[in-house]
Amino acid sequence: MNELSAPIRLNDGVVMPRIGYGTYKVGDDESQRTVETALELGYRLVDTAEMYGNEVGVGRAVAASGIPRDEVFLTSKVWNDHHGRDAARRALEQSLERLGVDYLDLYLIHWPSPKQGLYTETFQAILDAKEEGLVRSAGVSNFLPEHLERVRSETGVWPSVNQIELHPYFNQADVRAWHAEHGIVTESWGPLGQRTGSLLAEEPVAAAAAAHGKSPAQVVIRWHLQRGCAVIPKSARAERIAENLEVFDFELTGEELTAIDGLHTGRRQGIDPGGHER
Ligand SMILES: NC(=O)c1ccc[n+]([C@@H]2O[C@H](COP(=O)([O-])OP(=O)(O)OC[C@H]3O[C@@H](n4cnc5c(N)ncnc54)[C@H](OP(=O)(O)O)[C@@H]3O)[C@@H](O)[C@H]2O)c1
Repeated sequence: MNELSAPIRLNDGVVMPRIGYGTYKVGDDESQRTVETALELGYRLVDTAEMYGNEVGVGRAVAASGIPRDEVFLTSKVWNDHHGRDAARRALEQSLERLGVDYLDLYLIHWPSPKQGLYTETFQAILDAKEEGLVRSAGVSNFLPEHLERVRSETGVWPSVNQIELHPYFNQADVRAWHAEHGIVTESWGPLGQRTGSLLAEEPVAAAAAAHGKSPAQVVIRWHLQRGCAVIPKSARAERIAENLEVFDFELTGEELTAIDGLHTGRRQGIDPGGHER
């Protein structure tokens, strides 16, 4: 069971922790405090975005932690109003400046924004930045297979990671399989399904939690890992930040995984990327 505590090797050879700390809806001041806590507790991946408005706080926390830069895996994302080759390049430079770092470990296109139709150019800007050492790995977020296919056909490169809405209520089994076939790592956002408020109380989750002496959140995080996903739970509370990392001392059985799979509703909590117009 401990192989899941080992990092994942991405399709470009970059090594990424399987679990990270998510920072959506954590402002600059709070993010400094919570990211410092997460790093102290042992997290080595932090997920931010220009849209979250907290890159300054995240950068301060990384600097204050005293952990060498090459031991922290930093992900950020280019927002929808910075698509296109030049705009994406400027957005990256601004993210680096706010974070106070020389490079990102992973830079994602936050949404494909298909109505703009510029995501291939945006991805090319990330590939160019990778050549220059400003980005170690080039990925995307909220891309559908059709968007990934287009990126690959126009740039010759598959993104290393696709960060997508994924939790037991919307488990993306077909997309996960498609990613695996094409060497793309699936990273789950909204992993605890908390926008619904009910996932952690579902019977298969509660039963597995009782059986293993773990919390419902730990069971759900473990489900992500055992289903082959990287996962970035967010909490603003130190005790939950700690709890969410303590997932390497138990293993869900095949029956438990299948019972949790059975919670799938086929309904997203978030926006449908195919129709995303921003
Ligand atoms: N690429 C994208 O479009 C996209 C979209 C959304 C999110 N993300 C990324 O994914 C990360 C995670 O997603 P998310 O923040 O939306 O949702 P999440 O991690 O699934 O859930 C966060 C919620 O769960 C609660 N929570 C955390 N740990 C808990 C625990 N152990 N027990 C009970 N409740 C717990 C948190 O409350 P407290 O804070 O009060 O503990 C918060 O309300 C984000 O922070 C962000 O980095 C990316």
